[in-house]
Amino acid sequence: MNVLITGGAGFIGSNFVKYMLKEHTEYNIINLDALTYAGNLENLKNIGDNEKYTFIKADIRDKKKIEEVFKEYDINAVVNFAAESHVDRSIEEPEVFLTTNVIGTQILLDIAKKNWKLNPQDKHCRKYKAGVNFLQVSTDEVYGELGKEGLFVETMPLLPNNPYSASKASADLMVRAYHETFGMPINITRCSNNYGPYQFPEKLIPLIINNCLKGNDLPIYGDGMQIRDWLYVTDHCSAIDTVLHRGINGEVYNIGGNNEKANIEIVKLIIEALGKSEDLITYVKDRPGHDRRYAIDNTKIITELGWKPSYTFEEGIKETIKWYLDNTQWMENIVSGNYMGYYKKMYKDVDEDGR
Ligand code: NAD
Ligand code: TYD
Repeated sequence: MNVLITGGAGFIGSNFVKYMLKEHTEYNIINLDALTYAGNLENLKNIGDNEKYTFIKADIRDKKKIEEVFKEYDINAVVNFAAESHVDRSIEEPEVFLTTNVIGTQILLDIAKKNWKLNPQDKHCRKYKAGVNFLQVSTDEVYGELGKEGLFVETMPLLPNNPYSASKASADLMVRAYHETFGMPINITRCSNNYGPYQFPEKLIPLIINNCLKGNDLPIYGDGMQIRDWLYVTDHCSAIDTVLHRGINGEVYNIGGNNEKANIEIVKLIIEALGKSEDLITYVKDRPGHDRRYAIDNTKIITELGWKPSYTFEEGIKETIKWYLDNTQWMENIVSGNYMGYYKKMYKDVDEDGR
């Protein structure tokens, strides 16, 4: 199998590339990534010179390049992680979320269709080469937000509330449309919040770990009572591997860790694990359109495909904190670059208040 993994230099993608090389030593893994601010080849440096692994620096919006990659590597599966992934950035600058997350996905779908369809000239042909699949990595955020009760199930309407989740929902609908209109073999996975090694420090958990280690203020949006379901990244990788191999054509699968936590709980837990003071907590203005609660019903993937998460939150967060403590240079390399400009702009309240 020749698997094209897009966005494989990002947080989840790089974990997935390594997971696949370890679990499927016979597969050729082609990692295509544009290396935006979130892409980091340091995430992949322990792969060494594995001959089953190829890295290509390219943009999923670059049709010509994607065509060449499909031909040269005879791609028969796509796992599409490539995306702009941060809600706060989507509120500042939505446009690139549209071009990468929606148009980029449509370009990948179209080129996969051309290469995989048995008769690409015939618009009525719904037959594809054996074993091909396009797996779109999506998010639970496409469902919008929940009240105090209930869980997201795959049949719920998509009601995204911010430009990031709206772009991911649009991409999901495009993937669905390629399945319905062209008979393309697809799956969509919708996962809850991931955490683990190599996560970029704009996201809650690595940001709080980094600020704790430096003794900086810990910015909490609003009242800190927003709830997310947290999944350790390796469990997300095993779930995607399961769907790639056993997913029923055309189906959507929710992936979650049954680990609902309020943001403030997470922050206090990290403070305690690192032996810091709660005085570092700084309540800042809430994110506009901030979704109050996400929670996942993962019954479908568990009962139909036999996947289950193997990390409890307590185990996963321990591993994560240990990884960041053991890899301070990785973090330094990021925070010493452009990231600081972003941080200053986003968290002016924290800087100006100096609390
Ligand atoms: P990330 O921001 O860490 O990585 C994204 C990667 O995509 C980067 O390596 C970046 O260089 C690459 N990329 C961006 N634009 C590109 C383009 N135009 N062409 C090629 N490459 C491009 O994101 P992540 O947290 O690893 O998320 C990966 C995927 O999983 C995303 O699709 C995201 O929506 C989804 N997801 C993430 C979470 C989460 O908690 N992080 C949860 C559910 C779903
Ligand atoms: P984030 O990691 O950005 O993921 P998402 O918005 O996709 O869920 O944020 C997780 C939660 O933490 C979310 O409710 C926003 C909140 N948050 C803060 O309170 N402070 C911060 O500095 C950040 C980055 C997030």
